[in-house]
Amino acid sequence: MPSSFADRLGIAYPLIQAPMAGSNPPALVAAVSQAGGLGSLGAGYLTPQAILDQSAQIRAATDRPFAINLFVLPDEFEVDLAAVARVRAQLDALMAREGLAVRTVMPERWAPRFSDQLAALYETRPAVASFAFDLITSAQLRELKRRDIMVIGTATSVAEACAWAELGADAISMQGVEAGGHRGTFLHDPEEAMIGLFALLPLTVRAVKIPVIAAGGIMDGRGMLAAETLGAAASQLGTAFLACPESSAATAWKRDLPQAQAHDVTTIRSFSGRAARGLRNRFVQAMPQAAAELPPYPILNALTAPLRRAAAEAGRGDLLSEWCGQAAGMVRAMPAGALVAELMREYAAAKRGLGAA
Ligand SMILES: Cc1cc2nc3c(=O)[nH]c(=O)nc-3n(C[C@H](O)[C@H](O)[C@H](O)COP(=O)(O)O)c2cc1C
Repeated sequence: MPSSFADRLGIAYPLIQAPMAGSNPPALVAAVSQAGGLGSLGAGYLTPQAILDQSAQIRAATDRPFAINLFVLPDEFEVDLAAVARVRAQLDALMAREGLAVRTVMPERWAPRFSDQLAALYETRPAVASFAFDLITSAQLRELKRRDIMVIGTATSVAEACAWAELGADAISMQGVEAGGHRGTFLHDPEEAMIGLFALLPLTVRAVKIPVIAAGGIMDGRGMLAAETLGAAASQLGTAFLACPESSAATAWKRDLPQAQAHDVTTIRSFSGRAARGLRNRFVQAMPQAAAELPPYPILNALTAPLRRAAAEAGRGDLLSEWCGQAAGMVRAMPAGALVAELMREYAAAKRGLGAA
């Protein structure tokens, strides 16, 4: 892969462990960075103090660069209390039917305040900050640059990539529809931004002058080479790292991923109120999926959080948000550092196979 982008990031390989809020403890981030990739701490659900603490834990484990990722959200949310009451009744009835002794509660906050999280990010100064769900402001971008923090914006269409490039981002994380978890769509209805990575990469590389990072469904070194061939400066893999011992994905979730054919990998709204890719399980089949029938993100996300925690503790993968990308069945349960080495070995072998190296 063109190494200039990796050189700019200060990493050996153009390989990024995707931020995965809730599943990427400091041990995972540090292991990937230590092995020569770029580990990312998805910090969207963390309090400012937890961002500082977890950054310190990463730094205690490695002196290599890492990224912190945040969801760009307003600080306050309008809430339709009638819609909240309706969905709470549905969720509580489902938990009762399934024999799980947990019920929804009104949370203290719907989500951590983005501006406070960003202040913690400024303070801890990771090498890279990446953002999803919306653009940041020009003033925020300037503040990041002033602190020598490289900015990566998440896009799911060429128009979104152009918006980040125009703002002054250093690189784009381009998420194809294959990508696991929540995607960063912000200029379109999510249904209108269901574009495959193979189409998005060459279109985006033609439209912007900054490096484009490929994300979505890449599980091995061959996929990384394919992304490079289509113009990507690096590959960002999420699901591939979910089954690593360092990932904090629930045991049932790790167990279900390799059997992903047995489930359908699909777009789900009923855990968070925002379209996200994961396994179609019992919870998904039992709950409505239409946006009009559900409170939006992050309201529903906050309401289902205690239910998902209880499902994980009870080993009930069928009631858990088992986020994953489209190629989840190819996941490998190996230590993160060994996985980085294996991905790069596969990448080199694929390149040799094509007579390119
Ligand atoms: C469990 C999980 C959690 C995720 N959380 C985040 C997140 O916090 N921030 C973000 O920008 N992207 C998040 N993503 C999307 C990833 O950044 C990336 O685009 C995606 O994992 C790529 O597709 P793949 O999973 O097929 O490799 C998440 C993905 C997964 C699977």
